[in-house]
Formats: sequence, C-alpha cells, structure tokens
Amino acid sequence: MLETERLLLRRPSPADAEAVRELVSDPVAMAFIGGVHPDSDPSLVVQRWLERWEENGCGPFSVLRRCDGRWLGRVGVLVWDRRTWTQGSFSSAAEFAQPELGWALVREHWGRGYATEAARAARAWAYRELGPRRLVSLIAPANTRSAAVAERLGARPRETVTLFDSGAAVVWEHPPPPPPPAPPPPAGRDALATKTQPSRHGGCHRDGTVTRGDGRAMRRLARPDRLSQLALEPGR
Ligand SMILES: CC(C)(COP(=O)(O)OP(=O)(O)OC[C@H]1O[C@@H](n2cnc3c(N)ncnc32)[C@H](O)[C@@H]1OP(=O)(O)O)[C@@H](O)C(=O)NCCC(=O)NCCS
Repeated sequence: MLETERLLLRRPSPADAEAVRELVSDPVAMAFIGGVHPDSDPSLVVQRWLERWEENGCGPFSVLRRCDGRWLGRVGVLVWDRRTWTQGSFSSAAEFAQPELGWALVREHWGRGYATEAARAARAWAYRELGPRRLVSLIAPANTRSAAVAERLGARPRETVTLFDSGAAVVWEHPPPPPPPAPPPPAGRDALATKTQPSRHGGCHRDGTVTRGDGRAMRRLARPDRLSQLALEPGR
C-alpha cells in the first residue's frame, strides 16, 4: 500500500470491478490503450491485473481518493517483451523484459493532478522494489494528456516502437532513481540511544509514501506459460 497527500494506492480487489467498468467502457479513456472491447467483463479485467501481480511482483495499483475512498483509476508497472511489444512476464521475456509505468483514470477525475501524483509514488515504489535498469512509459504520439504527465514526471521522449494492441508509441524514459540518502554523521551516545530502526514491514520514505508489508516484489513467481495468453487478452 502506498499513500500520497491525496491518494491511496493498493493492489486491485474484486470489489473494484464496478468502478473499473467506468474506465474500460469509456471509448475516450480507452482510445489510446487498446480501445473498448464490447464483451469486456470488468471482473476479468481485475482478475488479469491480479494475475500480473502474481506473475511479476508488480502490476496496476488501484488508485483511491483518501478523502472519500472513491476509485479513480489504475497506475502501476506493466511488463512488456521488447521482441514483440506484447505484455508478458519477467521470466518469459527474460533480458527482453521492459517494465512500463502506466496510468489511466476514469474521465471524471482528469484535470486534478491525480495521475501525476499517483505515478510519482508508483515510480518511487518501482525503483525501490524492482530496481529496473530502464523504466519507461509507452505513449501514443497523439496522446498529449499522457505525454504531459510524463513531462511533469521528468521523463524524456526517445525512440518510437509499435505495440501489439495500439500501434505506434513513443518510449518516454524516466530519470534514474535518486541516489540513496547519505549515511548519517557519526552519532553521539545520546543520539544512538534514541535512534529507531526502520521496520522491515513498512516505514516512511523521503518521497512521502508509506509502504506496508504487502509491498515486496515477487518477481520469482512469474509463470512463462501465461505470456501468449496475456498477449491475446484485451484491455490494459
Ligand atoms: C493520461 C491521463 C491519466 C492524464 O490525466 P490528467 O488528469 O490530465 O493528468 P494529471 O493528473 O497530471 O493532471 C494534470 C492536470 O490537473 C490540473 N490540476 C488541478 N489541480 C491540480 C493539483 N492539485 N495538482 C496538480 N495538478 C492539478 C493541472 O493543472 C493539469 O491540468 P491541465 O490538463 O489543464 O493542464 C488521463 O488523461 C487518462 O486517464 N487518459 C486515458 C488513459 C490513457 O490514455 N492513459 C495513458 C496511456 S499511455
């Protein structure tokens, strides 16, 4: 679980399905992410997100507004296979695995800074938990709202690739993670006496997010046999 000033990011839950419907049935919101699939069942969409978490130790977070618990959208890390630009797993794509920071909100919640706020927290989490060599966002050239989010996050446009489900996408490269904080200066006896150790199961971080016990990556659980199935399934 991650917390920001206004938001909570947690793993999706089957109970999110009704809210997810608002997103996946909106042709405007889905225009650049595979489109609306008339037979798309939001419960299956949530189930697929959860399978990604199981396979990769990462996936879309559900983004909730803290003040009222409203489900706003999904923001998190997807894994692509660079050979085919299909979605896959760390184990099946091996050295061709490319983690992507992605975002999509229900349209009613655009224009409030929620996507950037959530993506900043998810990116800090990804750097911490996954340690990717390169973290990118894949954005259709015409998706100016999404490109603006990438710019706000300090990402830079690089090459263009062709995604299996939505065509051309500019690869926006995120800046490397900030260096780890410098070790504290040697402490005197008094300081040592009051020093607290960060908990293995949670703690406060410099970017204002808070992690809890279920935030660890589980990359080793990946199942290669899911790649072809995932590649054929609609709805990111
Ligand atoms: C891409 C997407 C997530 C962007 O959402 P967004 O709300 O425009 O992005 P942000 O969260 O960064 O919000 C920025 C806007 O909020 C405004 N804003 C209002 N209050 C704010 C606040 N407190 N803090 C920051 N910004 C605030 C900003 O001024 C900016 O407005 P502008 O669009 O008029 O310039 C959204 O358009 C979407 O879900 N699209 C469909 C899915 C999609 O295409 N995803 C991307 C796939 S690559």
